[in-house]
Amino acid sequence: MPTVPEIREWGKNGPPITMLTAYNKSIARIAEEVGIDIILVGDSVGNTALGYETTLPVTVEEMISHTAAVVRGVKSALVVTDLPFLSVGVDDSADIMNAGKMLKFGGADAVKIESGMHTISITKRLVDLGIPVMAHVGLVPQRIRQMGGYHQQGTDAESAQDIKEIALKHQDAGAFSIVLEHIPSDVAEEITNELEIPTIGIGAGPHTCGQVLVVDDVIGLSDSAPPFAKKFGNAKMEISNAIKKYRDEVVSGGFPQ
Ligand code: KIV
Repeated sequence: MPTVPEIREWGKNGPPITMLTAYNKSIARIAEEVGIDIILVGDSVGNTALGYETTLPVTVEEMISHTAAVVRGVKSALVVTDLPFLSVGVDDSADIMNAGKMLKFGGADAVKIESGMHTISITKRLVDLGIPVMAHVGLVPQRIRQMGGYHQQGTDAESAQDIKEIALKHQDAGAFSIVLEHIPSDVAEEITNELEIPTIGIGAGPHTCGQVLVVDDVIGLSDSAPPFAKKFGNAKMEISNAIKKYRDEVVSGGFPQ
C-alpha cells in the first residue's frame, strides 16, 4: 500500500490512484484486500452510516471512532480522515488538536480538509507539525448552507480560476494530494496539469490522477446517490435477501436445527 510520500510523488504517468470511503472494519478490510490505494474515512459517514441529512452534525469524536474502526480492519492501507465541519479553519490551536487527535487516537495516516483561502495557513502549520494534509476543492459539502445545494462548481471562468488558485496555494502550503469534487472535466484537467501533487477526482471527469467515490454508492447501498456516482453492485438487495431468509427460517422453524 502506498505511503503519503509515495502518493505525493505518484506523478501523472502512473496508474490511476484508487480511493474509496470506508466507515467500519469490515468494509475497510475488503477495500484493502482488493487493492484500493487510499481508504478515506469521509465525513460522508454522516449521510451514510449515521443517517444525518448533511455532514454538518458530524463530530470530531464520531470521526475518531470510525477512523479507529477502519484502522483496526486494515494491515497497512493508507487511511485518510476528514476533519468535520468547524473542526478546522476556526482557531489554530483547536485545529491542531483536532487534526492531531485523528492521528493520535484514530490512528489515521493523514487528514483531509475541505479547503478554502481560510485553510492555507493551517495546512502549512499542520504539515510543519508532521500531520499530512489532503486538500479538497470544488464542491465542498460542508458549505451546503452557503451553496444552497450540491451544485457543480467552477462553471464560469472566475470561479474556475478561484478553485485553481486555492488548489495551488494548498500545494504550496504542503498538501500531499488534492480532491477535486464536482467541477467541469476541463477545469479538473487544467488543475491537474498545473499541479505537481496528484489530483483525485469525484465528479470531475477522467483527467485527474485518481478517483474517489463513497462506498455506499459503489456497492448499491445508498438511498440516493449524486449524478456522477456509479453503482457497481447491489448490496442492498443481497443484504435484504439474506436478512429475509434468516427471518423466514426463524419463523418457520428451519433455523436453528
Ligand atoms: O466525505 C467524503 O466522503 C468525501 C469524498 C466524497 C471525497 O469527502
